Amino acid sequence: MVPAAAAAAAPARFGDGRDWFFEKRFGLFLHWGLYAIPAWHEQDLYRKRLKREQYEPLIQQFNPVKYRPAEWLDALERAGMEYVCFTTKHIDGFCLWDSAATDYKVTRTPYGEDVLKMLAEECGRRNVPLCLYYSVVDEHQKNYPHAGRPYEFAGPQAGDEPDLAKYLEYVKRQVRELCTNYGKIGGIWWDANVLKVRDASVRAMIRELQPAAVINNRGFDDGDYGTPERDYDRTVEGVGIFERPTEACEAVGYQSWGWRADEDYYTVSHLKRSIQKTLAKGGNYLLNVGPMADGTLPARATGMLDEIGRWYKAVKEGLTAEPAGRLAADASLLFTRRGKTLYAHVTAEPATDALLLQPMAEKPVRATLLNTGKPLQAEVVRLPRLWNQKPDRCLRVKGVPEGTAGAVVKLEME
Ligand code: GLC
Repeated sequence: MVPAAAAAAAPARFGDGRDWFFEKRFGLFLHWGLYAIPAWHEQDLYRKRLKREQYEPLIQQFNPVKYRPAEWLDALERAGMEYVCFTTKHIDGFCLWDSAATDYKVTRTPYGEDVLKMLAEECGRRNVPLCLYYSVVDEHQKNYPHAGRPYEFAGPQAGDEPDLAKYLEYVKRQVRELCTNYGKIGGIWWDANVLKVRDASVRAMIRELQPAAVINNRGFDDGDYGTPERDYDRTVEGVGIFERPTEACEAVGYQSWGWRADEDYYTVSHLKRSIQKTLAKGGNYLLNVGPMADGTLPARATGMLDEIGRWYKAVKEGLTAEPAGRLAADASLLFTRRGKTLYAHVTAEPATDALLLQPMAEKPVRATLLNTGKPLQAEVVRLPRLWNQKPDRCLRVKGVPEGTAGAVVKLEME
């Protein structure tokens, strides 16, 4: 018998075209822009407190002659990922599409091509939903009202004409372009609304132009889903099942989202567990790579994606099953289920060579470690340390090799 359902239940689907978001759970985040040239951080201008004239001339150097979106999507497929989120405009204000609203854009670089169009066409060919990241903070556009909030200049810069209404017109005009000229869009991924402007008309426009587009919660309203980032949001740890649609995001690099030549990378084990913790709770996961200035993905990052992909494909049936929360006393274990099959997700390195699934006390027909496909020994035993607990017997699973990051144990119950 499968244990009773956990108290919380996964959120209902949207019931429209946006439901692709529940089918495709693991995506590739791509932070690309002028900042790939200094190769330090996507907020190069802000974090080094540069003046525009020290950063913006990079537009004369942007020439990614090795950019082949097909190669990016090959890497995505090897990783087992099924959708993309691409930075069309980060906080520096540089636009990676041929926007009619500005000259600070990719088609005014030596490269001259609309890199978003190239990516959108490749995504369309492969039926890979493409979400578009757009920063509300804009360090270039002259109407943006800088006032020293995060990512902003301390105040207006030479030549600026601060005017919030005009700036919001600019945003809407650009988002209309993005929702009109690039085929079907999977979503709009807002970021950095430090102005805290609320405006329901933006959402209405996106809905009308792109009914299948999911909208995140960093824009002008609460959006369709939450976006916990890296491990900053500690409240996520305690959750067993996400109550609203959620997409966690993380980068392969610890310091930056854009390409950083001297990056401090996460370990693949850490990332596997991070992905596992999110998916087992019913969330989606966006893993970021910063493409280099020549348009290619760094070999170190694609190597990591390949390794993650081999793992992800092996354990995916468990990661994408229905979230069931914490069914065992051991809080590092998360569960998912599919019919009579339970999947135990081992999200931290166990202290012992046995998984004790107390209070579960029923022997499964079969136990398998999805990571390797190998059978595990599962039996109900009476344990000395459980003598004063009810039940004093528990299901014990042995045979998960030490150091198996992202272990998923499949338990086929009667
Ligand atoms: C952080 C970074 C920002 C990046 C974002 C992605 O907020 O500061 O540069 O785009 O994460 O979620």
